[in-house]
Amino acid sequence: MANLSTTYMGLQLKNPIIAASSGLTDSVPNIKELADNGASAIVLKSLFEEEIVAEMETSLQKMTSSGFIYPETFEYYEQTDDEEVSSKYLKLISDAKKAVDIPIIASINCVTAGEWTHFPKLIEQAGADALELNLFILPSDFTRDQIANEKIYYDIIQEVTQKISIPVALKISSHFSDLGRTLQNFSTKGIGGLVLFNRFYNPDFDLDSLEIIAGNILSNPSDISMSLRWISIMANRVDCDLSATTGIHNGESVIKQILAGANTVQIASAIYKNGFEYIQAMLEEIEMWMDSKNYNSLDEFRGKLSQSKSNNPAAYERVQFMKHFRSYQK
Ligand SMILES: Cc1cc2nc3c(=O)[nH]c(=O)nc-3n(C[C@H](O)[C@H](O)[C@H](O)COP(=O)(O)O)c2cc1C
Repeated sequence: MANLSTTYMGLQLKNPIIAASSGLTDSVPNIKELADNGASAIVLKSLFEEEIVAEMETSLQKMTSSGFIYPETFEYYEQTDDEEVSSKYLKLISDAKKAVDIPIIASINCVTAGEWTHFPKLIEQAGADALELNLFILPSDFTRDQIANEKIYYDIIQEVTQKISIPVALKISSHFSDLGRTLQNFSTKGIGGLVLFNRFYNPDFDLDSLEIIAGNILSNPSDISMSLRWISIMANRVDCDLSATTGIHNGESVIKQILAGANTVQIASAIYKNGFEYIQAMLEEIEMWMDSKNYNSLDEFRGKLSQSKSNNPAAYERVQFMKHFRSYQK
């Protein structure tokens, strides 16, 4: 029978399907369901940098009002107040570790290399197997140019990787003007994995109330194209592992991402739409395909359709329709 095991950032996983960070991964009962139904690792719902910083400010006020002014007292206050979001997050990590025997990857949504960067150490101490940085600097600040925007990413990577020894993944968007080289450069800065690409909250307009509302929250199968193209292009060209996310809705799309060169995939929408058991169905689909092709392990076909191994590399870079437009008739 086909062996679906894989490695990701040095972690041994029994298969390539990781439960992506979402509302499905913020409680121990859900994490148990995901593990019982075959997820090979869990990325916890992101804790937001702003939440950590807001709590630090509250702690600082308490410290100064009670005469404590030394930085070490931060830890004391963070770990003794059960109501604080960050303490709850650390407890979720340690409870999840006790409840399941698959890796638990913590996640922080961050936009600066500021005061929050002491927190990854606490995440490591709580038992997390890895940390994913969910990082998106929206390039809409007209006072900051592209170089200044990218510097924020490098600063965050440096701050975090030097403070912890568990692997760090970078989950980002495709909004970079020099995407290929930028991803390559990130991969040389000590991270263990790149997660391509996050799907963010997208605004839409309500034409009745004339208000801004949430756009499509869940992805569709056709949303896979962007990450499939870039996993294919970046495979064998980065110094870290690759994890694909967005638009992976069935076993076939997992197979495509492995063929492109991914170590793992991260799924959320397919589970929201079809339930926890659907992971098992996806795994069966992968196994059946592997058996039909006589593949015993993922390594036998991983990266087979990556650009660097292709005899038609231009096909991965084609962005205009050309002949498809000409031949497309109504
Ligand atoms: C309801 C919801 C909440 C999410 N919350 C987070 C989050 O806290 N942190 C994060 O990095 N990604 C978050 N994501 C993004 C997912 O982890 C995933 O990368 C994205 O949805 C693309 O995968 P999919 O097409 O399988 O949904 C969220 C997605 C959804 C649908």
